[in-house]
Amino acid sequence: MDRHLSLSQAARLIGVKRGDIQKKIQANKLTVMEGTVVLSDLKKAFPEAAYEDNTMLEKMEKFMQDAVHKMAQSEREGSHVDALTRRLVKINKELADERNRADHMEELIDSMKQKFMELKINTAHEDTFNEIKTWFNTAVKNLDEEKLTTPIVNLEHQIKQFMLPHVRLLPSRHDFISDKSETLLESALRSGLAVDYGCNNGKCGKCKARLLSGQVERTAHQDYVFSESEKSQGYILTCSNTATTDITLETEEAVSADDIPLQTITAKVKKTQTINDNVIVLTLKTPRSQRLRFLAGQHVELSLNTQINENHPEENKQPLIAEYSIASCPCEPANLEFHIPIQTDEPLAKAIRSQLKNNDSFTLSGPHGHFVLDEDSPNSLIFVAWDTGFAPIKSLIEHAMSLEQADTIHLYWMTTKVENHYLDNLCRSWNDALDNFTYTRIMCEAKTGVIAESLMQHIHNEHSHLMNFDLYIAAPGHLNHLLKPLLIAHGVKSQNLHFESTFHGDEITD
Ligand code: FES
Repeated sequence: MDRHLSLSQAARLIGVKRGDIQKKIQANKLTVMEGTVVLSDLKKAFPEAAYEDNTMLEKMEKFMQDAVHKMAQSEREGSHVDALTRRLVKINKELADERNRADHMEELIDSMKQKFMELKINTAHEDTFNEIKTWFNTAVKNLDEEKLTTPIVNLEHQIKQFMLPHVRLLPSRHDFISDKSETLLESALRSGLAVDYGCNNGKCGKCKARLLSGQVERTAHQDYVFSESEKSQGYILTCSNTATTDITLETEEAVSADDIPLQTITAKVKKTQTINDNVIVLTLKTPRSQRLRFLAGQHVELSLNTQINENHPEENKQPLIAEYSIASCPCEPANLEFHIPIQTDEPLAKAIRSQLKNNDSFTLSGPHGHFVLDEDSPNSLIFVAWDTGFAPIKSLIEHAMSLEQADTIHLYWMTTKVENHYLDNLCRSWNDALDNFTYTRIMCEAKTGVIAESLMQHIHNEHSHLMNFDLYIAAPGHLNHLLKPLLIAHGVKSQNLHFESTFHGDEITD
């Protein structure tokens, strides 16, 4: 059977940019179906392509056949082979990259050793030189020891992932891996998919899906009663089943903010973390039976539930309410994160700063807003945050990462001073750990003209044109107004621009 590859996978396989593949599609030289291309068509469209490893496809074929026999699973159809192919291509590419990097490092270390031996040292600096030499030799020794263990651990992890059941959702053709320690619903959410659900404990029936192929196993009690018709069609609850083989499920997923219902839930304070004088990161824990369903980038109304004092009614205060963007990914529905600017007269922020305790509770209403990821777009992503506008941007970035869709992700975080990059370490760790992620922090005066000029300068230096980018910008409304025409003039299509007007944070003057 011929393989279907996403555009990113196809580009990686033949070593070209995704834009090159898109050009062939636009020129009708390559057919795309539901975001995928067929391998044989790809070969015809790129006959001259230098495959990263000429034997890779043959090896992959053999590896797949062996794996199919060893796993001894009863059902193997096209979708499962596709999923295996994608994983193998990814593993192969990662292995090749790691090998290249290791080779380069070894060459570098050898030449440094040589250089140390050749250096003629002035006796006045001999102690310093010997100290550096000892340090260098110890560092090389430690590196050698690490090299022995790290790749093996990674490989084990990859193989484990490879052997877990794969789930394909129809009609979206989204895939995810089902961990047997999780329900299907938990695995789908962790993979960033916006599947429907409600109670999360087998009562409401909102998570029901039709099992089209493969086998599942009940992992929790369920009260919901299926009709005879639903039973005969093979419906299951994803919140109380896990996959025991590769499976295909038919279920609806939210594709826009309008598909997510408004909800009201109560959540308890799990943690407050004072990052600096300006920002508290507040984490709320949602009850297992009442998770908040939302899309990355959306916001909710937070209302602090104050104790009712029946003996002294005069002490009963008005509820403290304010809107905040959710800073965490929908793939982590148990814990919701909010970034609260505290240098403000806003009553709720003051209460959070001065009197909040663990286990205090909030009522959450929402979600609201349309600042959400365009999951169907094949474009690379640029995110721009001003100050605590980083909150919705963080949610979007984490969601984009869990979907593994974008070729490249670039974050520009702008603010007035260094301490206002309050999660700088997190952004730098993404930058270090992910090949396709880059982070630029920008400090400038809080004036719209200065900010716009500074941002455009950075973007201009790093991206010659922005035709194939989606931009997501969370900043005060008047700055967004100024940026829109500048970005369009720089080649961004207006439909690829997404703005969120932030509620709080550093004031900007015109
Ligand atoms: S989410 Fe309510 S039954 Fe599954």
